[in-house]
Amino acid sequence: MKKAVILALTLIIAVAFVSIVYAVPPGKTLTFKAGKMGKVIFSGKKHADKGLKCNNCHPKIFKMKKGADKITMKDIRAGKFCGTCHNGTRAFKPTNCKKCHHKKKRVIKGC
Ligand code: HEC
Ligand code: HEC
Ligand code: HEC
Repeated sequence: MKKAVILALTLIIAVAFVSIVYAVPPGKTLTFKAGKMGKVIFSGKKHADKGLKCNNCHPKIFKMKKGADKITMKDIRAGKFCGTCHNGTRAFKPTNCKKCHHKKKRVIKGC
């Protein structure tokens, strides 16, 4: 009886762990609102395709929870968060706004 419970718990934990492993890359994207410059789309897959592993970003640079870090441009330009790599050396410069920010297409209503 006790064994069955332990086995069940192990299975639950294993399943939960697997879903965490696939929470961001590969394939998942995170969208940040990012104010007037337009939203920022972070692609787990594109970063994984560049050979980055979970521990290149977690937990040193980002917590494993969307919105847990207060990411600002000031910090990015200072070489933190995305700017740890997006510094013009490891990846494109932080001045390349449009590679990260996407303005919504204007929607014309009521014509
Ligand atoms: C290039 C950097 C980078 C890599 C590599 C990376 N992540 Fe993330 N991950 C992020 C960022 C950025 C966030 C959002 C953090 C925030 O908003 O504060 C995030 C968030 C997460 C979250 C929370 C998602 C949510 O919706 O709350 C999980 C889970 C996660 N990552 C798992 C992983 C796993 C597992 C791997 C490896 C397979 C991985 N990450 C690789 C950058 C990365
Ligand atoms: C490497 C990707 C990246 C690049 C390049 C980038 N940004 Fe950002 N930007 C972000 C992220 C991520 C946030 C935080 C989004 C959030 O938390 O909602 C952000 C936030 C912002 C914000 C919201 C307020 C603030 O200051 O944090 C503004 C405004 C902004 N960016 C302007 C710019 C401008 C202008 C440029 C070009 C000179 C630029 N960004 C280049 C990723 C980038
Ligand atoms: C651990 C290093 C690292 C971190 C942290 C990181 N990136 Fe990247 N990123 C890369 C590399 C490497 C590339 C591929 C080289 C390039 O495009 O300059 C890349 C490419 C990209 C691209 C281009 C993808 C495409 O379409 O080809 C975007 C957009 C991007 N990153 C956004 C972000 C944002 C937003 C953050 C922060 C939330 C972030 N990155 C954090 C390393 C990183």
